[in-house]
Amino acid sequence: MNSRELPRRLLDRLATAHSVLVFTGAGMSAESGVPTFRGAEGIWSTFKPEELATMNAFLRNPQLVWEWYAHRRTIIATIQPNAGHRAVVAMEKLVPHVVIVTQNIDNLHRRAGSTTVYELHGNIERNYCVKCGSPHQPDAETAPVGVPRCASCGGLIRPDVVWFGEMLPEDEWNAAVRAANGADVCLSVGTSGVVYPAASIPSIARRAGALHVDVNPEPGPLSEAADEFIRGLAGEVLPDIVGRLEELRSRPNITEPEKGL
Ligand code: APR
Repeated sequence: MNSRELPRRLLDRLATAHSVLVFTGAGMSAESGVPTFRGAEGIWSTFKPEELATMNAFLRNPQLVWEWYAHRRTIIATIQPNAGHRAVVAMEKLVPHVVIVTQNIDNLHRRAGSTTVYELHGNIERNYCVKCGSPHQPDAETAPVGVPRCASCGGLIRPDVVWFGEMLPEDEWNAAVRAANGADVCLSVGTSGVVYPAASIPSIARRAGALHVDVNPEPGPLSEAADEFIRGLAGEVLPDIVGRLEELRSRPNITEPEKGL
């Protein structure tokens, strides 16, 4: 039995929850070895987003941007989902409806086996032509020399990720908002909650009646807005939550740990 004290309100809600929304950010993948964006070791402390993560930056220097994403793709290809990703997959056996809404482009939720994943900022394993929009397989294009060009129209190929100043993919956004409006519990995990409109998902869920619980080793704007805050790492807290959920679902009338357990 895990020793972490979990909020009673969360246990009570999870005991009967029909739908859980897990909203994740870079911190969810930190224990897998994916660098986060902000904070002392964050990507943006070394690189300038305006030089690497905008359409203007890409048009100004497509080679630099393409190589940077190819480099990140190589790193991501060598790493594995962590205990946090696996715990969210295990939750699917305990709660009828588990939806992942992620800001991460690393595809780790899907690689872990999560069924319903909405990617608000795209996926680094996909590419498309900036001119005709047609999709392109990454492997052919990760050839070392030059930025790949579209076979049909000759346009530049770019990663299928959302850059600063760009709209979120409409279908993913609408599906995320629907899931937020239907959730009994919203867990926000490993996000600084400063990039909008994605960061509004937990408050949409809370306004619709969900219990919002924020999980992060450092408190931030989302933990202040949440009903409960659990200070800790995704790869430790999520397995603890699922461990208690298993107990709750195996013995429905238990929300308080029995004496001596
Ligand atoms: N477990 C849980 N949380 C963690 C962990 C961990 N192991 N390690 C770090 N964190 C927390 C940090 O405390 C921080 O609050 O994860 C958060 C990561 O925040 P950011 O680096 O700002 O990442 P994110 O919130 O996903 O950024 C949002 O910004 O740069 C853009 O498009 C990019 O999707 C990204 C968006």
